Amino acid sequence: MAQQADVRKYDEVERAFDAAAARFGGIDILINNAGVGVFTPVAHMSVDQWHDVIDTNLTGVFYCCRAVLPHMKKRGGGWIINISSLAGKNAFPEAAAYCASKSGLNAFSEALMQEVRHDGIRVAYVMPGSVNTNFGGHQTAGAEWKLSPDDVAEVVVDLLGHPSRSLPSRVEIRPAKPPISGKR
Ligand SMILES: NC(=O)c1ccc[n+]([C@@H]2O[C@H](COP(=O)([O-])OP(=O)(O)OC[C@H]3O[C@@H](n4cnc5c(N)ncnc54)[C@H](OP(=O)(O)O)[C@@H]3O)[C@@H](O)[C@H]2O)c1
Repeated sequence: MAQQADVRKYDEVERAFDAAAARFGGIDILINNAGVGVFTPVAHMSVDQWHDVIDTNLTGVFYCCRAVLPHMKKRGGGWIINISSLAGKNAFPEAAAYCASKSGLNAFSEALMQEVRHDGIRVAYVMPGSVNTNFGGHQTAGAEWKLSPDDVAEVVVDLLGHPSRSLPSRVEIRPAKPPISGKR
């Protein structure tokens, strides 16, 4: 079943999860993957661009978790996996909003993990390095050194398969052989 929702709009998010819970009898897994990247110096960043990044990457995750938690508590457990970024711990120029959103997401994930672990809800965040998608307007041609989206998906599937006594709560994944700077 597909349900469309803009994660920046709480009423749409809540409606989508309520529909999924009604259709399947509950919700077991939430993967927060939606994200946007705007890469420009702070001096040139518009107020709308700032809000777009923070509202999608950080507030959107709060909205989805907030809407899903009552369903998971009713089921007696679940998994929430947030797709963050290595940019959340390694800030770089022209990415202030993006780095701030992912750094905030890391802290949000850690706090939530501690809040709900005794309800049987496991929270983890995955921090990929460069992934070969069109994210932020990046070109995919000539970027085969980057991670594939499948590599990140494999981490998510592995997390879901962990025994219920264990909680791998933070995973970093990066390209094995990035170009050496100056030798691209
Ligand atoms: N690519 C990288 O190098 C990289 C590295 C580290 C982390 N990440 C993270 O990985 C995640 C996926 O990115 P990607 O590389 O796969 O980029 P992508 O191809 O641009 O995918 C982004 C996804 O987010 C969805 N989205 C954006 N705004 C949304 C909104 N307001 N409501 C609902 N959905 C929304 C998009 O849906 P539509 O297509 O419908 O717009 C799209 O499916 C992001 O959180 C990103 O920060 C990416």
